[in-house]
Amino acid sequence: MRKLLPALYNRFRDSKQTQGWRIIGVARQEMTREEYLNLVNEHCRRFIPGGEFDEPAWNAFTTHLEYLRLDGLQADDYAELARRLQNSSERIRVFYLSTAASLFAQICQNLAAAGLVTPQTRVVLEKPLGRDRASSFEINEAVGKIFEERQIFRIDHYLGKETVQNLIALRFGNSIFEPLWRRSNIQDVQITIAETVGVEGRGEYYDRYGALRDMVQNHLLQLLCILAMEPPSSIDPDAVRDEKLKVLRALKPITPDCIKAKTVRGQYRAGAINGKAVPGYLDEEGIPGDSHNETFVAIKAELENWRWSGVPFYLRTGKRMQERVAEIVVNFRPVPHAILPVSASEGNRLVIRLQPDEGVMLYLMVKVPGAEMKVRPVDLNLDFKQEFKTRQWDAYERLLMDAILGKLTLFMRRDELDAAWKWIDPIRDGWDSLGEPPKTYAAGTWGPTAANTLITRDGFSWREDGYQ
Ligand code: BG6
Repeated sequence: MRKLLPALYNRFRDSKQTQGWRIIGVARQEMTREEYLNLVNEHCRRFIPGGEFDEPAWNAFTTHLEYLRLDGLQADDYAELARRLQNSSERIRVFYLSTAASLFAQICQNLAAAGLVTPQTRVVLEKPLGRDRASSFEINEAVGKIFEERQIFRIDHYLGKETVQNLIALRFGNSIFEPLWRRSNIQDVQITIAETVGVEGRGEYYDRYGALRDMVQNHLLQLLCILAMEPPSSIDPDAVRDEKLKVLRALKPITPDCIKAKTVRGQYRAGAINGKAVPGYLDEEGIPGDSHNETFVAIKAELENWRWSGVPFYLRTGKRMQERVAEIVVNFRPVPHAILPVSASEGNRLVIRLQPDEGVMLYLMVKVPGAEMKVRPVDLNLDFKQEFKTRQWDAYERLLMDAILGKLTLFMRRDELDAAWKWIDPIRDGWDSLGEPPKTYAAGTWGPTAANTLITRDGFSWREDGYQ
């Protein structure tokens, strides 16, 4: 209701593709088509920004919607789905599994048993795929018995964000960055995804997964891959995914002896977001009062390869933080010898901003007009909204279209996922063996103070001041 249907509506409205497709909403609830449409009408409108909502287009879109009651685990229930699809075996079918990952295997088996898997069929799997490497392996094995890898679309919506595409364009469409894009010129990299929302009624899921599995294992590591990968030989899915895989495999393991120095996990307490009081994590619905689950993670990651050896990648994500910001900050090394009275760390910085506004800012030191030779950082600011007056596609619009068209570049391959879990699992195990509760932070702040220590210990600091 919030992401998928609005995305498909937007693609419909822009493309005017009125024939040859339909969407069948499938769930356990008993509902008529009319009741389903009422539900969709009521909810989707809220998630389609006012200016993009066009009544006639919306009405035309909903004529393509159907509903089917089906329990994914009941093989018999698939007969009706098979009946509805019986005349379309040559057509593209996309099964989008927006369910717990533990159900993926069974659903795929049931689809196959009902004869619904054709060469033109694709399956989209939502993250997190498993809770650890072993469970992810099992799910992938089972799904892999039914679908070929070319038919499996493991979705990570961060890869569909416009700025992430632009990071690829920036790195591989310009020659000026490549010589600088390495340890000799880059001092440190920071990747932050800060959210102001809490668990949003998903307490039961979130308390079992936590920020490490919900955000770091996928979104943050994918951003790291795009930033740090070697230039692929083409934009073909495997060329790109081969390079991303090498990054994941180059991640230095975080062993028990360094878990305290390289990671911080936190949990929010009551506080205020934009002046409004919000409850603490333990008081959220569905969260046990003694939960040790993390709502914040900061990690110092390192890559063991020629390009990045010695460059720290600080990763940070949390719920109920001071601001909603997602950005990648690349700090270049200071000038080797300062002849001007400035703090060099403020300039020499590239910021790739994904949220709330999308843009790329290159901070350079410039002279302040006047008699004195005073310099300060000024940004060359590429604001996508200003520059390109067209509407930005939502990540799901791109990814759903790619899935329909069979384009795999922005989806995770099985070996990538495995490599990501291989790095994540020891962090989780390290925390378990420490047996310490997460550090607390007040809602509406930038996380536990320990997250500052993680970076200031190395002589750097998070780029929070630059947000205003
Ligand atoms: C999802 C997580 O993958 O990403 C959520 O499960 C999180 O917990 C969301 O809120 C953030 O996405 P975005 O696009 O709003 O930054």
